[in-house]
Amino acid sequence: MTETPTGAAGRTHTLPTIPRGRTGVFALPTGLVAMAEAGPIHRLRYAGGHVGWIVTDYELCRRVLTMPEFSSRPDLRHSAIHEAIGDGQPPEDRPGMFVGMDPPEHTHYRRIVAAALRLGEMRKLQASITDRANALWDACRGDTIDLVSGIASPLPALVITQLLGVEETTSHTLTRCLERMLSLESSADEVRGMFGTIFDELGRVVLRREGDHAPGFITNMIDDGQLSHAEMTSVAFQLYTAGHETTTNMIALSWLHLLANPATAEAIRGDDTAIGHAMEEFLRFFSIIQYGISRAAVAEVSLGGVVIQPGETITVSLPAANFDATRFPDPHVLDVARKDRGHLAFGFGVHQCVAQQLARVELTVALRVFLERYDEFALDSYAMKDDTIVHGLTRLTVRPKRSP
Ligand code: HEM
Repeated sequence: MTETPTGAAGRTHTLPTIPRGRTGVFALPTGLVAMAEAGPIHRLRYAGGHVGWIVTDYELCRRVLTMPEFSSRPDLRHSAIHEAIGDGQPPEDRPGMFVGMDPPEHTHYRRIVAAALRLGEMRKLQASITDRANALWDACRGDTIDLVSGIASPLPALVITQLLGVEETTSHTLTRCLERMLSLESSADEVRGMFGTIFDELGRVVLRREGDHAPGFITNMIDDGQLSHAEMTSVAFQLYTAGHETTTNMIALSWLHLLANPATAEAIRGDDTAIGHAMEEFLRFFSIIQYGISRAAVAEVSLGGVVIQPGETITVSLPAANFDATRFPDPHVLDVARKDRGHLAFGFGVHQCVAQQLARVELTVALRVFLERYDEFALDSYAMKDDTIVHGLTRLTVRPKRSP
């Protein structure tokens, strides 16, 4: 364990910052692997100078995410990677921002949203998502095709905007705003600006549904009568901002892996059960929320042999937990037949991804449609994202094997 006494302010500069810098698209930062091997919990220097913790052990990560002593409130947490804003958290306080709440306030909103996103409802979207995916594939033309800009990015954007009832033209504007909002290169002012633009647009969508009652997710929530206009806008905002980048990158990385490993593609093609297992292993192995998720201690807590003080931020390293060898044998081997759903890619505890069933439906469709066309393309090139909150690809190009 990298232990330094709390309050040793003069020595904080010697403490590690969050390990970054991957040597390859499917390799964790070597610093993170070394940290996890050295012990389950470590001191960590945050971007703004705060001294907190990082936990790398699977069981300890799950404990942090289930203990009421750790809060999700963004005003209490520090960011390990960005001085000005939290880990992609909205920088303003608006009613209904349940992602940054703790129980029991969080529980109220979570119940309403979870009910609207339950598996049965999400499965009903399968056919329309498949149609959209096929239409995007059919629209791809050229000697080389970028599967990220052509399909992996627009597909989740279309799905979430369709779910929320956003017009397609507005969807393109929102996508560009979201990219800038999530970019680590944007200033805090830019992030706030993009946040405002997306929020206002979704507010107009909610207003339209209040007027026309067009069937769909928002109207269901209006009819449910439990949320105000402002709260519904916040719910729409959180689903929109959390539901695009994540799914896009999972799709792109899964496709890259299959393009590079034809035997795996062959082994799972046409077999929905095998595709399901592969998808879970992809979620574990890619661990795209690469800098983990954070919580703030609101009480003194003894954990893994250290004492965490109130006010200290703790980062739960989802990648490190997902590669914990005591939980996942041979963790650095991507084994599509692993048949293990215990990964923490969607987090754990009360904030565990509320839309994971939708994400799974989207990923399954994306894999299925891709595998159906697998013989038509060959890998051309790809480019890894450079140090972003959500790991993934900026480009994945393929060459059609026959001219269209
Ligand atoms: C493969 C894709 C996805 C991954 C890997 C992912 C990952 C996560 C993780 C790790 C959390 C927990 C955050 C925390 O505990 O602080 C989370 C929460 C959340 N996710 Fe996802 N997510 C994905 C897809 C989606 C989609 C498609 C949506 C929306 C349509 C979405 C909406 C949310 C929301 C609203 C929360 C907050 C839940 C709460 O605080 O109760 N996610 N997600």
